[in-house]
This record gives sequence, structure tokens and C-alpha cells, in this order.
Amino acid sequence: MRPTSTLFTALLFGPLLATCQSNLPPPSAGIFTAQASICIQAPIELAWTALLDFASYPKWNPFARSMKVANGLGVVLDDQTPQENRRLWIQAQIPPLEPPVNENTPPNVLHSQVSFENITTIDSTTRRASWRAIMLPDILLDAERWSALSVPNSSCTLYESREVFGSLVSLLVDLSMAPGLQKGFEYQAAEYKRYVEGLAI
Ligand SMILES: *[C@@H]1O[C@H](CO)[C@@H](O)[C@H](O)[C@H]1NC(C)=O
Ligand SMILES: *[C@@H]1O[C@H](CO)[C@@H](O)[C@H](O)[C@H]1NC(C)=O
Repeated sequence: MRPTSTLFTALLFGPLLATCQSNLPPPSAGIFTAQASICIQAPIELAWTALLDFASYPKWNPFARSMKVANGLGVVLDDQTPQENRRLWIQAQIPPLEPPVNENTPPNVLHSQVSFENITTIDSTTRRASWRAIMLPDILLDAERWSALSVPNSSCTLYESREVFGSLVSLLVDLSMAPGLQKGFEYQAAEYKRYVEGLAI
């Protein structure tokens, strides 16, 4: 490639690449993906702490209304510190509740879902966390939810969240729950931003 066209390529695609920087691992193959990302004006350390402070989720999260850390038998632990290979009881609203919510917002029982998941990644170096549905065999429901934080530039702590649904049940999820799940990821990102920026003041 001649130098001029290299320069041209850099000018054309440089800004695009810069805005597409992601700290999520490459997506696995799947049938349906729900995802959201948002810039938060707060230090990454504060955002990371809030992401793992599951006990506070009922105060702000319209999608994952409650996340309880449990042992391998599903017994909720006194020590709610998220650790790899601990389990999670997640109570989700699909579609999400209308924000804002707090710990007293009543659930919509018709849209409440409980899932039992394994914490597969808690990495404070890469700022990535993931948990994976294990209630059903992978062949029926293969779904792993990733969250990642990064600082692409001085005016943004980037929060990214993604879940790829990869198997049979996903077909049903795709048909019946896809719009509600996608809305859940979007509302969760917006309310997480509001919550963390509130903590930063
Ligand atoms: C900072 O990064 C975010 C996310 O990639 C992008 O949306 C924003 O435009 C960037 N801001 C500046 C000033 O470069
Ligand atoms: C849970 O995740 C951890 C960390 O990736 C893994 O070592 C463990 O085998 C998983 N357990 C189950 C039951 O899936």
C-alpha cells in the first residue's frame, strides 16, 4: 500500500476504530444477543465496586432486581462477595420495570424470572465479570452474561454488557423475550450510569 493510501485509511478508519474499542471478550456464536454500552462520568474503581455490589441492585436496577451470592448447593451466603465458582440467584424482570426504581418498587409478578447461575469470571485487573446460566444443560440453554469496564479516553468510563444466547431454548427466547431482554440491557445501562454518577458526586 502506498503511504498516501495508508494515511487515507488511517484518517478514514482511525476515528471509527477508536469509538469501537471494546473490553468485552470476542462474542461466542449464538442465536440471539442482547447488549448495551454507555459512557459513565465517574472513576472506573467506583463503577467496578458498584457493579459487584449486588446487595445494592434493588436500589437502582430495573432489570436484575435482585442478585444473591450462594454456594454450590444454592444456599445464600452471609458473605455476599462475588467470587468465581460461587453461584448466583438472579431475579430478573423481562421486560424491565419502568425506571427509576428503588428497593421498595414492587415487582411485576407476571414478568418475574428466577435463574440460578455460576460466577465464571471476576477479574479486577481486566475489569471483566461474567456469570452463566446453569439451571438447564448447555444444550438447552447456553447463555453467559458479560460485563466489562474500561477507560477509552479521559472523559469516559465505558460500561459494556452483553449476553449471547446460544442454543435450543434460545429460539424460544428469541421469539418471545428478545425485545424485553434488549430493553432490559438498555435500561440497566442507563440506570447504572445514573447510580454510579450519583455516587461520584
Ligand atoms: C471517549 O470514548 C467514548 C466511547 O468509546 C466515545 O463515545 C467518546 O466520543 C470519546 N470521547 C472523546 C472526547 O474522545
Ligand atoms: C463455575 O465457574 C468456574 C470458573 O470459571 C469453573 O471453574 C467451575 O467449574 C464452574 N462450575 C460449574 C458448576 O459450572
